[in-house]
Amino acid sequence: LGEHILAAIAAAPGLDALDEVRVDALGKQGRVTQLLKTMGAMSAEERQSRGPAIHGLRERVTAAIAARKAALEQAALDARLAAETLDMTLPVDATPAGTVHPVSQVMDELAEIFADLGFAVATGPEIETDWHNFTALNIPETHPARAMHDTFYLADVDPAGDERETFRVLRTHTSPVQIRTMTGQPPPIRIIAPGRTYRSDSDATHTPMFHQVEGLVIDKGITLGHLKWTLQTFLKAFFERDDIVLRLRPSYFPFTEPSAEVDVGFSMVKGKRVIGGAEGWMEVLGSGMVHPKVIAACGLDPAEWQGFAFGCGIDRLAMLKYGMDDLRAFFDGDIRWLKHYGFAS
Ligand code: PHE
Repeated sequence: LGEHILAAIAAAPGLDALDEVRVDALGKQGRVTQLLKTMGAMSAEERQSRGPAIHGLRERVTAAIAARKAALEQAALDARLAAETLDMTLPVDATPAGTVHPVSQVMDELAEIFADLGFAVATGPEIETDWHNFTALNIPETHPARAMHDTFYLADVDPAGDERETFRVLRTHTSPVQIRTMTGQPPPIRIIAPGRTYRSDSDATHTPMFHQVEGLVIDKGITLGHLKWTLQTFLKAFFERDDIVLRLRPSYFPFTEPSAEVDVGFSMVKGKRVIGGAEGWMEVLGSGMVHPKVIAACGLDPAEWQGFAFGCGIDRLAMLKYGMDDLRAFFDGDIRWLKHYGFAS
């Protein structure tokens, strides 16, 4: 009987077949079980002489089933592993990855360059009060500069509110961050404020939303020389060139006096303008010494504190640095455009 059952176990082709053999041998009606039951009717001597063989049979069958079961399970696992093996040499299904947008990248670069010069990064709201965006910057209500800014005004007016809070606009420049910084912390101040700005304007070089970076220094004994050195150092680091030439052109902003428009020299390389050298001039930013009225509007004494400020279009900086020609493409979200300029892989 033992040889017969052990042969059936060894021959069981799978787990189901093995279980049938088990039931046939060790189940309630199984042959080994029946044999064990016969022991009840045996005499003591008979049980003593035959018992060990019967118990031994049950143990051998149980052990053989367990061993066969383990072997079959291992075989099943091996087969599954073989079937499900990944072929690492197959080409991957390339999911396009996101990347840092050139504008964000330039903002990061600016923060890094100015951090080295001791400037902190300041921020302000994009929905700004008329007072911060214009009045405190020496642009009173009747000032023509308000018309020049093509301002988006917000319809919600709070008639009960503080006069400063009454009219809200989408900030037309980052200069209101000057005001928020001067009213929010004591001088000396050295900050840049990169962020979104808005004007109702749209063509190849203007988008209704664009980006500026503001710079502000308030301290004692600050001169135009500090302004020029700071801009020169910044532009050299940004364009990664030593041959950066700056030209300060007298200009007018209500919030600076004197004011200067800053041009950077370019040269022609294969019919394209490249920053560096002085074959021609390109306007890159507006700047000047902070107007005493602005310092006073922020509650500081202009006799004690002076400073300079500048404002610069970030999108324009990015276009110049990376040779891009249509500003609107910045905001189309087209991955092919990013790839073309090496911003996405
Ligand atoms: N806010 C000005 C503009 O948007 C730029 C500027 C900033 C000029 C700071 C002078 C000083 O045109």
